[in-house]
Amino acid sequence: RRSWAEPYKIKVVEPLKMTTRAEREQAIAEAGYNTFLLRSEDVYIDLLTDSGTSAMSDRQWAGMMVGDEAYAGSKNFYSLEEAIQKYYGYRYILPTHQGRGAENILSKILIKPGDYIPGNMYFTTTRLHQELAGGTFVDVIIDEAHDPRSQHPFKGNVDLQKLTDLIKRVGAERIPYISVAGTVNMAGGQPISMANLRAVYELAKSHDIRIILDATRAVENAYFIQQREADYHQQSIAIILKEFCSYTDGCTMSGKKDALVNIGGWLALNDPDIYEEARNMIVIYEGLHTYGGMAGRDMEAMAIGIEESVQDDHIRARIGQVEYLGQKLLDWNIPIVVPIGGHAIYLDAKAFLPHIPQDQFPAQLLAAELYREAGIRAMERGIVSAGRNKDTGDHYYPELELVRLTIPRRVYTQAHMDLTAEAVDEVYYNRHRLRGLKMVYEPKYLRFFQARFELL
Ligand code: F0G
Repeated sequence: RRSWAEPYKIKVVEPLKMTTRAEREQAIAEAGYNTFLLRSEDVYIDLLTDSGTSAMSDRQWAGMMVGDEAYAGSKNFYSLEEAIQKYYGYRYILPTHQGRGAENILSKILIKPGDYIPGNMYFTTTRLHQELAGGTFVDVIIDEAHDPRSQHPFKGNVDLQKLTDLIKRVGAERIPYISVAGTVNMAGGQPISMANLRAVYELAKSHDIRIILDATRAVENAYFIQQREADYHQQSIAIILKEFCSYTDGCTMSGKKDALVNIGGWLALNDPDIYEEARNMIVIYEGLHTYGGMAGRDMEAMAIGIEESVQDDHIRARIGQVEYLGQKLLDWNIPIVVPIGGHAIYLDAKAFLPHIPQDQFPAQLLAAELYREAGIRAMERGIVSAGRNKDTGDHYYPELELVRLTIPRRVYTQAHMDLTAEAVDEVYYNRHRLRGLKMVYEPKYLRFFQARFELL
């Protein structure tokens, strides 16, 4: 068996600053032990997120040069619309500044106070927009998703029984749509199977409920379907993606992930009436319906990025790199979420630091420690990200207390992955010395972005 290698070569490089341990200790303390508050200049390997951090291709950069910055009717809008219709298959497209712009508009249109929105685990911005519109998010993902050790191949699947129970309990008319994400970020980048989505679709249709896809990493989801679902081994990613989207009525999309661009997103719909309302709303919150917060050049780069993103060679190398890092950590018995997900390796902070209680923020601490150790920036995905219950004011205590090592697309080399694994191993070796954190500043919304901590 031969090893795989990247289906591209490097044409431009961005030199990185090397820092000393003393410099990093100071930087992370000044950042309140929150990796979101570090300056990127002080970071060596930036695994905070795969959002907007991908390397664009030479073709995408060429696309930037043909940006048509007309206020209305930019030709790049039509390239983008065509690419989305071709590869995702939705009828109506509205560009937005990024994913949450689409979530805001969709939630405002579809959700009435008192409604329930079932979903396969929450995402931070998605749930918040649902709540701000007066809705209540209900998690209907399968139980295995909450277990970092379960080897279920499709931990993003919806539990049809949980969904049926909710429909019985509140009534279909209180459920404006089912919110389905592929892959599921907060579960560890875990996919949903085609068979499951099809079954959700059939159940939803029988109750006249819509399905809205969070398509942010749907291409990565398609790769897992191709690898793990019997009927799809011989199908191309492009074909799988289109079938996947066909079981949904529209999508919100952060183009900053799968679509290989630094900024942008869209809202896609099949229903002409909802589209009409969204097109009205977009001019209030985003921009005219042919740019929606994006520059013409960025729409062109995204149109090209969409086409590159569905190439089988691309996606195999992309997820292959994530698997390479994950396999190394597994070989060294470091607790990570399994199976290895699509865009990131998730360290299981509860297993890593069992001596630190969840309300002393073990994942937050572990992320800070990785930075201190090696200048690697990761992200907390645990109790800080989960926020507080809006009714009781208590922390949500998620089962999963994770640190996400998120791999940008086409950016880092295998040597960067090796160094990352070695740094994690070093922190793991010294884990018993670590103490918890205390939160000293807590913002009202999406607190993980700006909260500050001190060492206990
Ligand atoms: N949905 C999912 C599944 C996401 O991962 C994100 C963003 C969004 C929606 C919102 O999109 O950032 O363009 O407004 N996730 C980033 C991350 C921030 O780091 O995982 P956005």
